[in-house]
Amino acid sequence: MVARALREAGLELLQERYEVRSGGLLATRREILALVAGAEAIVSDASIQVDAELLASSGRQLRVVANFAVGYDNIDLHACARAGVIVTNTPGVLSDATAELAVALTLAAARSIFDAAADLRSGRWTHWDPSYRSGPQVGGSVVGVVGMGRIGAEYARMMKGLGAAQILYTSRTPKPELERQLGARQVELVELMRCADIISLHTPASAATYHLIDAAMLALVKPTAVLVNTARGSVLDELALATALVEGRIWSAGLDVFEHEPNVSAELLQAPRAVLLPHIGSATARTRDEMARLVARNVITVLEGGQPLTPVLEQSV
Ligand code: NAP
Ligand code: GLV
Repeated sequence: MVARALREAGLELLQERYEVRSGGLLATRREILALVAGAEAIVSDASIQVDAELLASSGRQLRVVANFAVGYDNIDLHACARAGVIVTNTPGVLSDATAELAVALTLAAARSIFDAAADLRSGRWTHWDPSYRSGPQVGGSVVGVVGMGRIGAEYARMMKGLGAAQILYTSRTPKPELERQLGARQVELVELMRCADIISLHTPASAATYHLIDAAMLALVKPTAVLVNTARGSVLDELALATALVEGRIWSAGLDVFEHEPNVSAELLQAPRAVLLPHIGSATARTRDEMARLVARNVITVLEGGQPLTPVLEQSV
């Protein structure tokens, strides 16, 4: 049962072996609950709440939930463990595509690309001004990576390639290899917020990271700082960010994720110097195909009695 839709690259692998039902892109919760009845495998994505109700609607034959995403905050891992259901995700295959989008948001937000382009199209570009839209520069900047995991590390490498002077990072465990390769330095979040010119969020959503970047953290940043979020909306207090943008306490922000997707708060929509994208971090054709194939291989391996390729363990939350 594909709750919404799976790209052909993965779908064909499943259809060669099994009967596959899909809810479709606009399936409602009620439709999905009805469709999962009798499924041995469910393909979910970040928009599908996999909870005790969904598991019960499916039935005791359910063996695997394969998430089309590396993030799994949409899944109740404890409920899955209680039901004896294996959970899988898509780590690694999307790291470079997502880091690339974080870099794109960094450049767009730092260099006011969308606002400047809008000025041109609306006829506001009428004369030369040496101070016009002159903001921070990526080259020579101090970059703060919040969550130096797979995507955070890829982003740090890309930013170093663009000429970042220094990489600061936070994570639960130190990353000696990256410290050697990039000269990165692990610091406390407070120091990172104070010192970084560019701050990019890459932690998973969890109880521990809920509003990790809140009003108090935002109060620490330089007024010239750029904040990028390609992690999850709940990691950032969006209203506090909107206020900081309105009050000019932060230069700009680039966001790909929001706390109540697909709804975006009016405050953020109206905030100045905010580049907002509809959750397209991993959206390249190659990466989405690799994700779809990994989803299918996880389903096939579990249904054939093997060990999942990329399991998510209950203790991951
Ligand atoms: P990952 O490799 O697991 O990296 C997560 C990093 O966050 C690790 O460095 C981890 O520290 C750190 N971390 C975890 N919990 C923390 C906490 N409570 N406090 C501080 N740091 C913490 O995951 P990933 O593959 O890079 O993916 C990261 C997230 O990006 C996903 O969970 C997903 O939500 C998001 N994502 C978004 C898109 C998009 O389309 N925008 C695409 C892909 C992923 P340790 O290394 O010490 O464990
Ligand atoms: C996308 O948001 C993912 O977690 O893969």
